[in-house]
Parts: sequence; structure tokens; C-alpha cells
Amino acid sequence: MTYGQQPGNAYRTRATLDPVAAVAYSESVTVPWMRIAHRGASGTAPEHTRAAFARALDLDVDMIELDVQLTRDGHLVVLHDEGLERTTNGHGAVREHTLSEIKTLDAGIWFGPQFMGERVLTLSEVLELVGSAARLNVEVKAPCADWPALAPQLIDTLERYQALESTIISCFQPEALLVVREYSNRARLGLLWQNATFDDAWRWVDVLAAVSIHPLWLFVTVNMVRAARARALQVLTWTVNDIGIMKHLVEQGVDGIISDFPERLRVAQGMTGPFGNQS
Ligand code: G3P
Ligand code: CA
Repeated sequence: MTYGQQPGNAYRTRATLDPVAAVAYSESVTVPWMRIAHRGASGTAPEHTRAAFARALDLDVDMIELDVQLTRDGHLVVLHDEGLERTTNGHGAVREHTLSEIKTLDAGIWFGPQFMGERVLTLSEVLELVGSAARLNVEVKAPCADWPALAPQLIDTLERYQALESTIISCFQPEALLVVREYSNRARLGLLWQNATFDDAWRWVDVLAAVSIHPLWLFVTVNMVRAARARALQVLTWTVNDIGIMKHLVEQGVDGIISDFPERLRVAQGMTGPFGNQS
């Protein structure tokens, strides 16, 4: 797909953008945007495993998004679901298992036999693996009963790896971020949002002193991005796997795109710029 081609086969160039979009586009091309790997490079390797994170690093992403849950014995593990069934060969709730129990599980074979032997990782293991090669976006997925124990554990772990200032902690539930905020004034918080209207979001980001808003890509508009910029917020949108949609979002002025296929973000990046490399 060449620059200017949009989803739905509508063909647009900068000149044919409406005036508001054209201004946003010219603003956006001066702002570098971040390529963010979703659960590691989860389109081509089992999500949240060493293989997925290693591939994201090979692709030289700017940031890696991951989800955290808390084990029964208080360890932060990198898993999306509250249950073990979808991505491991275990059963039951993560919060009802100890770390040593979870470490016996296979977290790769569900994706393909070549990934057999991949293990569930702790947040500390990911921090060691990634080091300073990419920033992290840690999403709190644990149920609310775990927030009081999770928040200090999360802050302490990021502090221990000197990653607190470079990491964005996000959640769909602003109340969880409030609990995190209680433990740290320095934590960088991002509010996940999947509504078409943003009034409540803007109220929450003020309360939380958040640094970013993370809207579902369908709800990104020029006006939405402008409203975020007026609040000094970054706009990191998810989860986008189509190169045409990636380019469209860059034209809206987003600061980062979260994708299961970071290699496609690289392609989109090469094609966006003032008329891109493909013009
Ligand atoms: O952080 C963006 C995205 O990961 C939120 O949705 O369900 O993939 O965690 P989900
Ligand atoms: Ca997530």
C-alpha cells in the first residue's frame, strides 16, 4: 500500500485532507511517534514470552506493552488473562497459584510446537531482558482485590530496575491507577479508554495527573488528539495491525501505536513523513 491510501480504499493526499486534518497532519510529521509492541511481538510469537519480547527487541521497538497479574504469593507475573487456560497448559485463576506453580507451566506450545518450553515471566525477568533497549508500558490487569498488594509491588519493582521514570503504568480502571498513585508521585500513569466520548477521561487524567491517554484506535480523531495535547498528554493508541490504519492514525497526530506486528509499524513509519518515502 502506498502513502495516501486509506482503509476503505479512499485515496487521500495531504492536499485533499480537510483543513483541520491537514493542520494535524503537518503537526504530526514533526513529532516522532513510538512503535509499541503489544504483549511483545505477539503476532509472531506467543504473547508475553521471552520469544515475543526478544523478537520485539530485534525489531528495535521504542516501547513494549505488557499486562501484569499477581500470584497468590505476591509476585508480579506477565499475563493478560486472570485465568491460565488460554495461554498456558495450566488451569484456574492466576491469583490462586504460587509463582513456583506457574513456573512449571508451558506458555508457548499453544501458539506453536516450536515454542514449547516457553515459561510465564515475572515482571523482573522482563525488566532484566529488556534493560534500557526499550521503554515499557505496564498494564494492570489484576482484579481489584489485588490492587492494594499489586501497587507497592509494581512501584518497588520498577524502582529496583530504575525504570519508574521510563515506564507508563496503564489501566482501563482509573480507580486502580489511583491506588498506584497513592504509592508514588513519580509514577507515570496512562488511562486506557474505549469510549467514543472523552469527557470522563479528561476528568480522570486530571485527578490522576496522568501523562498519557490510550484510546481504542477507532475513537482517535484530530479533535481528540488536540484535546489531549492541550492537557500535555501523549496519545498511545491500540491495537492496530493494519498498515493503512497505522498511517491514518499518524495523520491524526498520535504519539504511539501499539501493534501485535511491530514490523508493520516500521513499514508505516517509513511511509509517513512529509509525503513519506513512498510519495
Ligand atoms: O494497552 C492496550 C491494550 O493492550 C489493551 O487491551 O486487552 O490487549 O490488554 P488488551
Ligand atoms: Ca494490555
